[in-house]
Amino acid sequence: MIGAEKIIEKKKDYLFPSSQGNHFYKNPPQLVKGDMQYLYDDNGKEYIDFFAGVSVMNCGHCNKEILEATINQMQTLQHTTIIYLTEQMVNLAEKLSNILPGNLRRSFFCLSGSEANEGAMLLARLYTGKNEFIALSNGLHGRTHLTMSATEIPMWRADPNLSKSIHFAKNVYDENLNIEEAAKKIFRKYRRDN
Ligand SMILES: Cc1ncc(COP(=O)(O)O)c(C=O)c1O
Repeated sequence: MIGAEKIIEKKKDYLFPSSQGNHFYKNPPQLVKGDMQYLYDDNGKEYIDFFAGVSVMNCGHCNKEILEATINQMQTLQHTTIIYLTEQMVNLAEKLSNILPGNLRRSFFCLSGSEANEGAMLLARLYTGKNEFIALSNGLHGRTHLTMSATEIPMWRADPNLSKSIHFAKNVYDENLNIEEAAKKIFRKYRRDN
């Protein structure tokens, strides 16, 4: 194992600038293994991952059931793009539509959080016919052009020409309001301030 210091050095040498320094620890460990809610570093120290891999490993690290299904599929047929017909995609979309609330029925499959957020922003633009967004101050939404524009943390704003159609809102949370009322409140405030 090459160790944390060497990894940081290699990140600086070989990764894109916005991927270089983005850890939040004075002495970040090198993670070498995951097993459901547990992670292990290069010294064999065990951690409980309360953050679930920034919330994208909610079914656990190296979940055996998911691994088995993934390996089976990878050994059968890997990537074809959505222009060709495969049944797994439509079967999953159908399954999701059966468990989603209300009349949510259609799925947009993608490979990263950035694409998911970009897709959500596209959907909002198509639905409202409007162009601008209010994003939470100091948030991270991704590294595509629009999601990077909605990201306020400076270390992830690598592009000097980001979209000007994003407005950043502070202090959105209000314990006395539900999420919809809080969103409306910040929207009214934003309109007054501008
Ligand atoms: C809150 C949040 N949104 C969006 C993203 C972007 O996801 P991805 O790196 O998969 O594109 C991240 C990535 O860490 C994230 O933490």
